[in-house]
Amino acid sequence: MRPAARMTNLPPYPFARLGKRISELKKTGMDIIRLDIGSPDMPPTPEIIRALESSVEKAETHGYPGFTGTPEFRQAVATYYERRFGVRLDPGREVLSLIGSKEGIVNMAMAFVDPGDLVLVPNPGYPAYAMGTCMVGGEVYELPLLPERGFLPDLAGIPASVAERAKLLWLNYPNNPTTATAPMSFLKEAVDFAQRHNILLCYDNPYYELVYDGHQEHSVLEVPGAMDVALEFNSLSKTYNMAGWRIGMAVGRGDAIAALAQVKSNIDSGVFQPIQDAAIAALTGDQEWLKERNAIYRKRRDMLLETLPRFGMEGYRSSASLYVWAKIPPDQPSSEEFASQLLEQAGVSIAPGSFFGSQGEGYVRISLGTPTDRLAEALERMEKAVLLKQR
Ligand SMILES: Cc1ncc(COP(=O)(O)O)c(C=O)c1O
Repeated sequence: MRPAARMTNLPPYPFARLGKRISELKKTGMDIIRLDIGSPDMPPTPEIIRALESSVEKAETHGYPGFTGTPEFRQAVATYYERRFGVRLDPGREVLSLIGSKEGIVNMAMAFVDPGDLVLVPNPGYPAYAMGTCMVGGEVYELPLLPERGFLPDLAGIPASVAERAKLLWLNYPNNPTTATAPMSFLKEAVDFAQRHNILLCYDNPYYELVYDGHQEHSVLEVPGAMDVALEFNSLSKTYNMAGWRIGMAVGRGDAIAALAQVKSNIDSGVFQPIQDAAIAALTGDQEWLKERNAIYRKRRDMLLETLPRFGMEGYRSSASLYVWAKIPPDQPSSEEFASQLLEQAGVSIAPGSFFGSQGEGYVRISLGTPTDRLAEALERMEKAVLLKQR
């Protein structure tokens, strides 16, 4: 059996490949500490879990839940956006439930990209932007995120011929993998760019509530005029420790939401209602607990930033996200080889920067979503492995 030709443009998801190797090593009895994926290690609050439990007990919550999110879920999202960001959304037209934001991100290409269309994608960046584009025969135009520019793309430097052909612009701050944040002035520049070139700005915002040091993050829809040119992709995965539950939302420009909903209604059948009910509890409940949770991430970030230089690594200090983005020791041949050595020799799995694009080479991404004592142990193992090799 011959798979479709488009599969040649679609390499296996790098984390799926890595997960397979980790399973093999675990079968040999090796204890692996996973710092590669951005999955929170802590659970959601008891209130969120109880909301799931009480919804699942009801006879009427087990049928098909509808395609776009229950009216109650969409209203909860709209109320949340108004309270959290001062952004007004029409829950009927400007909010759509997603089976996790990754699903919506990939399906955007189905809704908007024809073969040969250009999509502007950050490099390094979350792989789903480029993969979705490739799946439908679109062309990716990479926007390098460079440390000297604070990992913000040079929108003004995009050639006019490229901007004119582009259909979508993907941006994501707090950024995965670089952890950089974007000032409001940059969000305004991005909205202005999208307006001038008739591009749909797709702002992927799953990390806005993972912030430290008193930092505050924004929705792109706060920018005046953004509702006319932007969709924001949001997720309960990281904000509420619900990564396995698979629920997120797209919000913003109504006709773009309708196009995505039309694609989705032909592909999936919505999010299980008890999960939507639990998401409502998360969005409408007391948000104070996020501060304590973030204090734990901050402690882990600080531990990494302090320890990495002991063995020749340098972490980028950011006040947001679930990761530390760090330069590999200077004597290492590549980020993938370095990560592979740590996995095979020390049982510590970190994500090579090259998983996120060519500009990620020379870096690794280390997740903060691992219990603090295991993170400390991982750092000890890494130190030993790197120093041993340097001797
Ligand atoms: C930048 C970014 N966008 C989207 C996602 C997808 O999140 P989910 O599908 O769990 O909502 C992730 C997950 O790691 C991410 O890092």
